[in-house]
Amino acid sequence: MHRMPLLVANWKMHTTASEALILARQVADAVEHVDHLQVVLLPPVIWLPTLVEDLHHRPRPLSFGVQNFYPASEGSFTGEIGIDMLTKLVRYLMIGHSERRALFHEDHQLINQKVQAALIGGFWPILCIGELTPVMLKQRGRGRPTSIEHKSDLFRQLDQALAGITTNQMERLTICYEPLWAISPGRVVLPVEAQAVLEQLRRYLHERFGQVANRIRLLYGGGVTGDNAADYLKFPDVDGLLVGTASLSMRTFRPILDAFIER
Ligand code: PGA
Repeated sequence: MHRMPLLVANWKMHTTASEALILARQVADAVEHVDHLQVVLLPPVIWLPTLVEDLHHRPRPLSFGVQNFYPASEGSFTGEIGIDMLTKLVRYLMIGHSERRALFHEDHQLINQKVQAALIGGFWPILCIGELTPVMLKQRGRGRPTSIEHKSDLFRQLDQALAGITTNQMERLTICYEPLWAISPGRVVLPVEAQAVLEQLRRYLHERFGQVANRIRLLYGGGVTGDNAADYLKFPDVDGLLVGTASLSMRTFRPILDAFIER
């Protein structure tokens, strides 16, 4: 089953207006003639209109997305960006990133509402799941979770996020395994471990949703660099990568792009 590889650049709360424009143009140049790869930039939302306007004439594979949004069209939600405000700007919406869960206390109900709103609104959600229990936070840097911790946390998060989602809606979903403890400068999940988790996830999705599981893209995120990207991409269930720190300059992002191109 062919799944279009996906490289997601999560710029988090980094870049100035001019840095964002330069970086986005550099990425657009680098992928201009590339087939069979989709690159999604998630810049700070305030730079999005300028970047989209500047690059709208560029051919795919470059797309834009947001790191966060609120799952309502309008209302008294001070400080939030409503989902309908994003319709003409982006295709991808990241949901459930471990920093949103841990630092901004996003709970599973909000995450589920976001997934539902994104799918109903015709967007392509990138749902992040990963171990995030207080136990794991305390242990961060001291070791990896056991396979039982993987299972319980991951599948609980997945079930909660996908409550009420139909099989037909699943096709547009991407799921990223992105444990908080592995986000730089944490400890990386080895490629073979990422494959094992994603394989389990795909099997689970298959049991629950049937054949569509073969079309859902599964990503790994956390500590990805130019030195290890190719090692993750060797594995059959790793359909792409979510990159934070290393996506912030072409010096570090270019080798990751190359790993996809040479895959
Ligand atoms: P990182 O961030 O690549 O800096 O570890 C990954 C992420 O945003 O999940």
